[in-house]
Amino acid sequence: MNKIVNTVRMKGGSLSGTYLLEDENGFKFIRKNVSLTENREYGFQRWYSQLKKIQRFSLQYPGLFPNLLDYGSTETHAYFDIEYFENSFNAQEYLCQNSKNSNPKLFFEKLVSAMDYLHEIKLPTSKHAMRLYLHEEVHQRLKDCNQNDVFTNFLKYDTIVFNGIEVNSFLHEYSDYEAMAMRVYQKDYESFTHGNLTLENMLYIPDQERIVFIDPYEENVIDSILAEYSQIYQSSNSLYELYNAKGCVVFENCISSNIEVPTTLIAFNELFTGYINRTCSDDEIKAISILEISQFIRMLPFKMVVDSSKMLLFYALASYLWHQLKAKDT
Ligand SMILES: Nc1ncnc2c1ncn2[C@@H]1O[C@H](COP(=O)(O)OP(=O)(O)OP(=O)(O)O)[C@@H](O)[C@H]1O
Ligand SMILES: [Mg+2]
Repeated sequence: MNKIVNTVRMKGGSLSGTYLLEDENGFKFIRKNVSLTENREYGFQRWYSQLKKIQRFSLQYPGLFPNLLDYGSTETHAYFDIEYFENSFNAQEYLCQNSKNSNPKLFFEKLVSAMDYLHEIKLPTSKHAMRLYLHEEVHQRLKDCNQNDVFTNFLKYDTIVFNGIEVNSFLHEYSDYEAMAMRVYQKDYESFTHGNLTLENMLYIPDQERIVFIDPYEENVIDSILAEYSQIYQSSNSLYELYNAKGCVVFENCISSNIEVPTTLIAFNELFTGYINRTCSDDEIKAISILEISQFIRMLPFKMVVDSSKMLLFYALASYLWHQLKAKDT
């Protein structure tokens, strides 16, 4: 193996670390590593399924995922190496930090084409898919957080005040949420999916007008385009990355986080909403919102490990989003 002469830690990194490495010949590549011992369920198992998904999809969808270069382990960590894309931005950065030079319309069009390509292959599904999803990705994730005192204390409040608006705590609303999910989600096929299609998990290369999907995720139960759309909304509509970067202030049952939303992100969200409204039925649009809310619940155990105030923030955001959806479902 060539000697590594330069290492840069990239943005992000929850339970695993992402690094840009350069070897003695000037060859650059991305390495993702994870502990072999700590937090295996939310660390190693997720990392491992990502490795396998990249390995398969880089072959199956040439150019849409980074090529896998190598994988292996050291005494303490497992790692895989993937192709590095020079002059790329993650899409969140592209739309938010680079607003003056970004072109949300072109980016939106390239994203829709990339999704169409990925979602082309259809899979049979089950009418019980949503039940299993709710059990595993919502109910079980809430249970996983019950070991955390900060969380259980917060659940004692019946209501939450999120940025000044009082809403019922999600747990008290769970049976209504479940009932709506079972009613509106009726998709009769699944697809090959990315699995965690937030703006942060895709790269955009403006010079080539090209999208590359990074950070795929396997543990989704429902591999539906509706879930994929809900993850884009997690970024562009519910503003996950902006809240995550900002953090929050918590006092008793009140949570506040003041973020500024760049106009280019708003422009992208409007284009994407237009697309959803043209291509999805009313029930499918509600199912996307149901799944969008679930994204904030299923991430809670990850947040519990890295930052418990963010666990409260995203639980509060989920409660708020449910409050809004319920009001629309008349
Ligand atoms: N192949 C790549 N080429 C160029 N930049 C990359 C590549 N992979 C990742 N990056 C950069 O590194 C950042 C973090 O990468 P990634 O999303 O894979 O890691 P992470 O968010 O730390 O991981 P996870 O979400 O699995 O915890 C990306 O947002 C992007 O800016
Ligand atoms: Mg990521």
